[in-house]
Amino acid sequence: MAILKIARMGHPLLLQKAEEVPDPTAPEIQQLVADMIETMNDAHGRGLAANQVHVAKRVVVFHPPADRQAAGAGGDPQAGDAGDEEPEEPPILALINPTLEVLDDDLVPGWEGCLSVPEMRGVVPRFSRVRYSGTTPDGKPFEREVSGYHARVVQHEFDHLDGILYPMRMEDLGLLVFESEFHHYLGSDDDGSGIEEDDDDLDESADDGTDE
Ligand code: NI
Repeated sequence: MAILKIARMGHPLLLQKAEEVPDPTAPEIQQLVADMIETMNDAHGRGLAANQVHVAKRVVVFHPPADRQAAGAGGDPQAGDAGDEEPEEPPILALINPTLEVLDDDLVPGWEGCLSVPEMRGVVPRFSRVRYSGTTPDGKPFEREVSGYHARVVQHEFDHLDGILYPMRMEDLGLLVFESEFHHYLGSDDDGSGIEEDDDDLDESADDGTDE
């Protein structure tokens, strides 16, 4: 495994549409996925797309957030409240040739960061509920419906494969801020921004410097 160099905003590859992978089980894809996971973890990232490490292929890796949907379809909706323990973080997911379907076209603003846009945060509108699918590195199909922060992470990562960085999705560039100022900004109880901040995961991701 190897830690790869992360492309930063301004590198043309980040604006390029990545190519479909003909064989998700090919050895070079296994190697790429392993290297991307090592690179993401080294950088304390939430997710990483292949073109962020200079490979224009449709491959993403990310930590799916622990959320209410973690129990899966048919799970007991009460189950999540049963214990005192924090929900366990699901394992890292690698997807090849991922696709996204919007299930609820309500746009929800929320803070994001990106390993290719270091030391910055911005408020980005994202669809509240999506279904995503793709192929895992062992060649198996994967599909899942998610909402909230999980849906946000997926939209951010999949956007990378189409050459879109989060500032390109922003509606108010006044809400593109440096991380150091962001911490001040979120420090007040009422910042008057009207932006939803009731998602603990988003705050957590900001506090620990997690980027996507
Ligand atoms: Ni990113």
